[in-house]
Amino acid sequence: MSFVDIQALRKSFGPVTALAGVDLTVERGSRTVVVGPSGCGKTTLLRLLAGFEAPDAGRIVIGGDVMAEGAAAMPAHKRNIGIVAQDGCLFPHLTVAGNIVFGMTEEPSLRQPRAEELMEMVGLERSMLTRRPDELSGGQQQRVALARALARKPRLMLLDEPFSALDTGLRAATRKAIGDVLKAEGIATLLVTHDQAEALTFADQLAVMRGGRLVQSGRPRDVYLRPADPATAAFLGEAIILSAELKDGHAHCILGRLPLTDAGSLARQGTIMVRPEQIRCVEPDAGAREGTIRGRVLETSFCGSTCELRIVLREDEAVVLALEVPSSADLIAGQQVDLRVSGTVHVFG
Ligand SMILES: Nc1ncnc2c1ncn2[C@@H]1O[C@H](COP(=O)(O)OP(=O)(O)OP(=O)(O)O)[C@@H](O)[C@H]1O
Ligand SMILES: [Mg+2]
Repeated sequence: MSFVDIQALRKSFGPVTALAGVDLTVERGSRTVVVGPSGCGKTTLLRLLAGFEAPDAGRIVIGGDVMAEGAAAMPAHKRNIGIVAQDGCLFPHLTVAGNIVFGMTEEPSLRQPRAEELMEMVGLERSMLTRRPDELSGGQQQRVALARALARKPRLMLLDEPFSALDTGLRAATRKAIGDVLKAEGIATLLVTHDQAEALTFADQLAVMRGGRLVQSGRPRDVYLRPADPATAAFLGEAIILSAELKDGHAHCILGRLPLTDAGSLARQGTIMVRPEQIRCVEPDAGAREGTIRGRVLETSFCGSTCELRIVLREDEAVVLALEVPSSADLIAGQQVDLRVSGTVHVFG
C-alpha cells in the first residue's frame, strides 16, 4: 500500500468546485511535485491533507491511518504533517527561535541546539534566531517557516511554493539543501510550485492538475516526453504542436518525416508534439537535400547564454517556431536557416 492514498477527493467552496475528484498516491520517502494553473486546486489539496479543511467526499489515508473519510476528518494537530503555507505564516509575536521550537517534542535543553542546526540547514545565520519575523526579508521568512516545519520531524511534508521569494541561485541551493534533508530523514514530500524547472528537478513523481482534477501523474521524464494533452505539454515547457499523418511508425508533417516515440500500428491523422530542443538551426546548405526544412528568422531576443528565435517556415508562413539557440550562433532577423529535427515525436492519444 502507498504511504499516502488519496481517493476521489472532492471539495467545493459555495459554487466553486476546487477539487472535482482527485486520486493520487505518494510512496514512502518520495517526492511528489504538484503543478497546474492558478486556481486549479493545489493549495486546497494540501490543506485537505494537512487537515485544515474537511473534504466533501473521498478518502485520505496516510501511513495506513485514515485521515479523512467523507466529511469525517482527524484534527490537524494529530496528523504529524509539516506544512509550509504559500504565505509563510510565521507567528509575528515570537522570535525566529520561538517560531522554530514551537511544537518541538525534544526536552528543553536540546531545543536551542536543534534550532541552530535547522537554521544552518536552511542557510540562515544563527544570530537571526533572536529577531522577529518582521525584521527578516521575505525569503528569510520562508526559510524560517521551512525550519519550523522540519523541527517537528513530520512524517509528511507539504510545501506550497516555499522557494518563491528566493532569487535564482539561492532558490536552487535551498531547494537542494531541503531536498537532501527530507530525503535523509525519509520524509515523504508534496511540493507545489509554478516553476517548471523546479518541478522537473525535484520530483520523483510529477502530478499535473487542471480544473480540480489530476490530469496526469508519473515520472517527470515520462510526463515531459509523453504529456497527456497539448495543455500539459505546454505547461511543462515550450512545445510545438502540429497535425500529422501517422503511418509506418512515423509522423509526416510540416517538419518532415519524424519517427514516433510510441509507434501505433494504425495509419491515421493525429496531433504530435516536438520539443524545441529537438530542432537545430543551421546555415542554409547550397546543395541541400530534398526535404530540407527551410525557415526564416523573424525575430531574435538576447538572453545571455542563449538567444530566443522566432522562426517562420518557408513552406507555411503560418507556422512560427520559438527556439532557443546558443547566443554564439549569432543569427539575425531576416536570415534564412535550415532546420534539422532529431529524436522522436509524441502523439497525443
Ligand atoms: N476558502 C475559500 N473560499 C472560497 N473559495 C476558495 C477558498 N479556497 C479556495 N477557493 C477557490 O478554490 C479554487 C482553488 O483554489 P486553490 O487555492 O486550491 O488554487 P491553487 O491551485 O492553489 O492556485 P494558486 O496557484 O493561485 O495558488 C479557486 O477557484 C479558489 O478561488
Ligand atoms: Mg495555491
